[in-house]
Amino acid sequence: MDDTDGRDHRGLSRRQFAKAAVAIGGASALSACLDRGGDPDVPQGPDDLSSLPARQHAWNEFLATDDHGNDVAPRHRVLVLLNYAGEGTPTDAERETVESAFRSLERAYRRGHDGLLFTVGYSPSYFDRFDADLPGSVDLRPPRALTPFEDPALDEQDAVVHLASDHAAVVLAAEEALLGEQSELNGVELAADLSGVFERADRRTGFTGEGLPADNQDVDGIPDSEPVDEDAPLYMGFKSGYDRSQASEDRVTIPEGPFAGGTTHQLSKIRLNLDQWYEQDSRSQRVSKMFCPVHAEEDLVEGVGNNLGDSARMEERGCPAHADDHARTKGVVGHSQKSARARDEDGSPLMLRRDVNSTDDGRAGLHFVSLQRTIGDFVDTRDAMTGEDLADGAAVGQKNNNGILQYMAVLRRGNFLVPPRERRALPEPNPA
Ligand code: HEM
Repeated sequence: MDDTDGRDHRGLSRRQFAKAAVAIGGASALSACLDRGGDPDVPQGPDDLSSLPARQHAWNEFLATDDHGNDVAPRHRVLVLLNYAGEGTPTDAERETVESAFRSLERAYRRGHDGLLFTVGYSPSYFDRFDADLPGSVDLRPPRALTPFEDPALDEQDAVVHLASDHAAVVLAAEEALLGEQSELNGVELAADLSGVFERADRRTGFTGEGLPADNQDVDGIPDSEPVDEDAPLYMGFKSGYDRSQASEDRVTIPEGPFAGGTTHQLSKIRLNLDQWYEQDSRSQRVSKMFCPVHAEEDLVEGVGNNLGDSARMEERGCPAHADDHARTKGVVGHSQKSARARDEDGSPLMLRRDVNSTDDGRAGLHFVSLQRTIGDFVDTRDAMTGEDLADGAAVGQKNNNGILQYMAVLRRGNFLVPPRERRALPEPNPA
C-alpha cells in the first residue's frame, strides 16, 4: 500500500494505517495493509542479478531527489535483528541458503525506494564465533556507552537486516518472506529463506517523510497540544539529511582488504521526550538548538527548513568554528553546529545518516542508523555532537541548551559490518 493521505470512514489516514501495520508486523498486518491499500504495483527485480551494485549500501542512485537535489529517504523501515540458530560457526550449505534467500528478495522487487532496498550487517559478537580475527582494514569495535549520561543495553545479536521502501506492504512482505512465513513474494517463488539458519531476536520499525510524524503523534513522548508540522519528515519538526551534511557512499565505503566495498552500520535506539521542546521552547530556541544560534538570530530557517537548499549552511555562517564561543557567550549551541565539527581533511562529513522515527513500545523514538567507513568515524562524530568540550566551564550545561541532548536518551547501541554484496551471506572474518 502507498500512504497518501486518503482517510477512511473511521478517520484513520492511510499514513497512520501504513505506519501502524509496519509497527505491528506479521501476516495479519500485511493482509490488512493489502486489503486496505491494494497491492502496490511494484515491478519485479531482474532475473540476471549481475547488474546490481557491488555495494549493499549503494542506495542513493535508487532514491528520489527533492527540488534541491537532496536524496529523499525511503518512508518505511523494518530492522530485523537475528541470531544464528546453529552451534559454532556457519556451514557452507547455510551460506548458500542465506545467499539464495537474499537473491530471492532481489528478484521479487526492483531495487529502489518504490521497490525494495535492503542491507545485512554482522556484529562483533558474530565474528567472535570464529578463531580468526577481522582484518586490520575493518574497524568494527563492540558497542559501548559513548557519553557520561547514558547506560545503553548493547545489541549483541549476530546480524541486522535493514529493509526500506516507500510502500509499507513491501517491507512487511519482505520480512515475512525472509523469515519463511510466505513462500511467494510479488509473484516470485522464493528459492530459500532464513528460517532454520537465523532466529529473529528483535524487530524495530520506523518511518520518515512528510506527513508521517504529524499523522502519528498519538504516542508518549510528544505532546498533543502542538501539532507537528505537516511538512516535517521527523518528529522534531525539521528536515534532516541535506546533501552537504551527509557523507557520500564513497566516503563511507571500506577501501581495501577482503571487505572492500563494504561499510559499517551503527544502530542506536533513542527515546525522545519532546514535551519541553514543543511546550516551553519557542521556535527561535528550537532553531538555535537544532541548527545554530546564528540561524535563529538571522531567521534563516523557514518552516521545516526546505528553504536552506542542499546544505544546512553551517560553514557559510561560521557555526562549527564558533561553537565554543557561542556556548560561552550565547549560552546555547546547536546540534548541527556541533556535529559539523566532525569533518575529514577534505571537509566531508564522516557519516551517512539513514535514521527514522519510531513508535516502537508506544513511545516517540528514533532509530539512528548511520553508515561510516570505520566505527571510529562514528565515535568521533558522536563526540563532536555530545560536545563535552563545550559544556566544560561554559554557559551551556552537559545537556541543557547543548543541542538536542536533553530531549533524547540512548537506550541501546549496536555496531555491524555490512560486507560487500558478494560476501553478505554469513561471512568468515578472513575470507580469501
Ligand atoms: C533525536 C535524534 C536526532 C534528530 C532528530 C536529528 C536531527 C538532525 C537534523 C534536523 C540535522 C540538521 C540537518 C542536516 O544537516 O541533516 C542533523 C544534523 C546532523 N546530525 Fe542529527 N539528529 C539526531 C541525532 C543524531 C545523532 C545521535 C547523531 C550522532 C552523531 C547525529 C549526527 C548528526 C550529524 C553528523 C549531522 C550533520 C552535521 C554536519 O556534518 O553537517 N544526529 N540532525
